[in-house]
Amino acid sequence: MKIMPTNKIGILGFGCVGQGLYDVLQDNQQLEVARICVRDKNKERKLPASAFTFDAQELLQDESLVILTELISNPEEALVLIRQALEAGKTVVSANKKAVAENLPELIALQQKYGSRLLYEAAVCGSIPILRTLEAYYADEPMQEVSGILNGSSNYILTKLDTEGCSYEEALRQAQELGFAEADPTLDVAGHDALHKICIIAAHAFGVLVDVKEVLRFGIAGITAEDIDLAHKLGARIKLVASAKYNVVQQLEVQVLPTFVWPDNELYYVQHEFNGVVLEAKYAGSQFLKGRGAGSHPTGSAVWADVTAALKGYKYTYPKLKPVKTQLADDTIQIYLRLDGEKCIPNLRWQEVVSFGVSLNKVQLVGKIKRSELMQHQAYLEGCDGFVATLPSGVSLNAFVQKAIQHEQVTA
Ligand SMILES: NC(=O)c1ccc[n+]([C@@H]2O[C@H](COP(=O)([O-])OP(=O)(O)OC[C@H]3O[C@@H](n4cnc5c(N)ncnc54)[C@H](OP(=O)(O)O)[C@@H]3O)[C@@H](O)[C@H]2O)c1
Repeated sequence: MKIMPTNKIGILGFGCVGQGLYDVLQDNQQLEVARICVRDKNKERKLPASAFTFDAQELLQDESLVILTELISNPEEALVLIRQALEAGKTVVSANKKAVAENLPELIALQQKYGSRLLYEAAVCGSIPILRTLEAYYADEPMQEVSGILNGSSNYILTKLDTEGCSYEEALRQAQELGFAEADPTLDVAGHDALHKICIIAAHAFGVLVDVKEVLRFGIAGITAEDIDLAHKLGARIKLVASAKYNVVQQLEVQVLPTFVWPDNELYYVQHEFNGVVLEAKYAGSQFLKGRGAGSHPTGSAVWADVTAALKGYKYTYPKLKPVKTQLADDTIQIYLRLDGEKCIPNLRWQEVVSFGVSLNKVQLVGKIKRSELMQHQAYLEGCDGFVATLPSGVSLNAFVQKAIQHEQVTA
């Protein structure tokens, strides 16, 4: 006999996000938590042992659950669980950006085939309701651009460097102590996390399923005090900005790059662990959303918002989804590049280049270059601790260099 669904929810994962969701559920008392699946049998828990299982199948095969929340840390294992739940026709809420971003075409197809549902607001900017805004409010309005600070760990580190002048290592250590950065911070500081988020955003804002491997991505790991000083001299801040926008011929440009931003940009004021997203819609114009992009309760709140929406029948419709693969734009961008030691300069095909801070142990350049050209040298530049940042197209290279040279003269 088929068991009729009740108001029970299953939770896979009881770490930062799982516990945040549990607290919200306890406050609301609208859903009964069935069992919570975790992995480590020896870990101390704040709930009695009877609340837990170590077998995910216990939840996946429990037909009395109306919703399954996938909040585990390992993206590969998460994908297996999400896949199985969708194939069983279940409603799943996930916070796993990597699993979603790298497998979105398959996950959409599974929902269509099995009549199941997957929501993942928490995977993109924690508590900021960006996906729901794009899906529901902007379903029928063309978007021109979505760009933002999508990774709280990097933003916290950049804020510390900018406002306190501490070293990158010290800022990272503080971020880890406060729980804003993982023990292995690579996904955050190398820009992968922001890349996953902007790819998910692109699906909902533009209907484009972006292959993460085709996107230009640089992170902040190579940044030094010299880069921060330069930004100060220019009256700017360096922020890790992920963006997806249409160019003049309506081709989509997607990138994740440290970016010089000035006070006329909302993102200049997004500090510490906060996230901020600028939306540019055809008729509504520009809007700005700011909030907590991570953390136990903010992310738990986003999962809870998906859970309650799903209970009312909400699902993503991907209103702008394009039926064929979209070629991303390969435009020319303006970049700043600093390398330690002139001999490491790769042979880049610049369209225009000006070097300014050349000394025995460093070289600084600004120039115009094709995105694809820079991507070809990405691994090399990251490997030699180079720092790459982009300048908005409206900034003149000469004006930038003039200010930078004044800076050199002042600090010499
Ligand atoms: N932390 C944030 O602020 C944040 C924000 C947005 C999105 N996210 C995403 O949310 C997800 C969870 O992140 P988190 O920070 O909560 O991670 P976390 O603190 O490391 O907790 C992960 C939880 O998953 C459990 N787990 C791991 N592998 C498992 C498996 N195979 N089967 C069952 N349980 C398993 C762990 O069990 P044990 O307790 O036994 O170790 C732990 O309870 C990740 O996808 C993350 O990217 C996190």
